[in-house]
Amino acid sequence: MTTPAGHARAGGAGDAPGQPALETHSLCRRFHGLTAVADVSLKVAPGARFGIIGPNGAGKTTLFNMLSGELRPTSGSVSLFGRDITALPPYRRVALGLGRTFQITRVFSDLTVLENLTLALHGLSRTKLSLLRPWRGYRRVMAEAAELAAGFGLAGRLTVVAAELSHGELRELEVLLALALKPRVLLLDEPAAGLSPAERGDIQALLRSLPPELTLVMIEHDMDVLRGVVDFTAVLHLGALVAQGPMREIQHDERVRELYLGRARPGGEPAGPAREAGAP
Ligand SMILES: Nc1ncnc2c1ncn2[C@@H]1O[C@H](COP(=O)(O)OP(=O)(O)OP(=O)(O)O)[C@@H](O)[C@H]1O
Ligand SMILES: [Mg+2]
Repeated sequence: MTTPAGHARAGGAGDAPGQPALETHSLCRRFHGLTAVADVSLKVAPGARFGIIGPNGAGKTTLFNMLSGELRPTSGSVSLFGRDITALPPYRRVALGLGRTFQITRVFSDLTVLENLTLALHGLSRTKLSLLRPWRGYRRVMAEAAELAAGFGLAGRLTVVAAELSHGELRELEVLLALALKPRVLLLDEPAAGLSPAERGDIQALLRSLPPELTLVMIEHDMDVLRGVVDFTAVLHLGALVAQGPMREIQHDERVRELYLGRARPGGEPAGPAREAGAP
């Protein structure tokens, strides 16, 4: 497997030198009375391989949604390379180099791998996509799409319709679709969810082959996959950051083990997201 060199873009004009790739300050998100993310402050260094773990409902995807701009925080801020992006919509964040994949697959299932990649790459260009123009009219972009897939398992599956891909290939396609937008920071929400052991090995190999300058932030329940990719991990529980540190320390942390075994009841409250008193 080769490294997709050239698919992480260089530093942007608005970068503040020496700043973290991604930083949050006291990030909070409430849904009515439910606090899904509570006061999370994180720093992710450029080029880091950063994991986020926590039990179901801990607030991991909600945190990602605030990083990528799908959700506005109730309070707190998000910075990308020192630039405050809290008020920016998702497409502006993408333009600044923030890419993501989703927990639920988002590809065009009736288009081929090549067509999906071509559409994603076309998103970067200034010309409008015409549905009346035949695909071969986008030859240059299609060649670029094939080049992006080269070296990955999908290189031999370019003409296959996405609906016919295996679950593992679909996950791989999602990572390639995110890479097509040339991110500098890539957020991955459970890239190995629902995969077979062999497919987990494939996605792990893909993630390990990404360019070192690309900053990776990855939510994952599978500790084996995570261990092979990240070196630093933050732990969310009930929306709050309860631990962070080198992966080898976190995986042996007694509190983290308890959280995953469902025995943690800080203050005696039941497992699950924090609810405010009097909330519906
Ligand atoms: N749009 C929403 N409206 C109301 N509640 C929400 C919304 N999105 C998330 N929540 C709630 O916020 C809490 C955190 O959800 P979130 O999806 O962030 O958890 P998660 O850590 O990603 O869980 P999982 O590991 O199952 O994916 C959950 O209780 C969820 O029900
Ligand atoms: Mg989630």
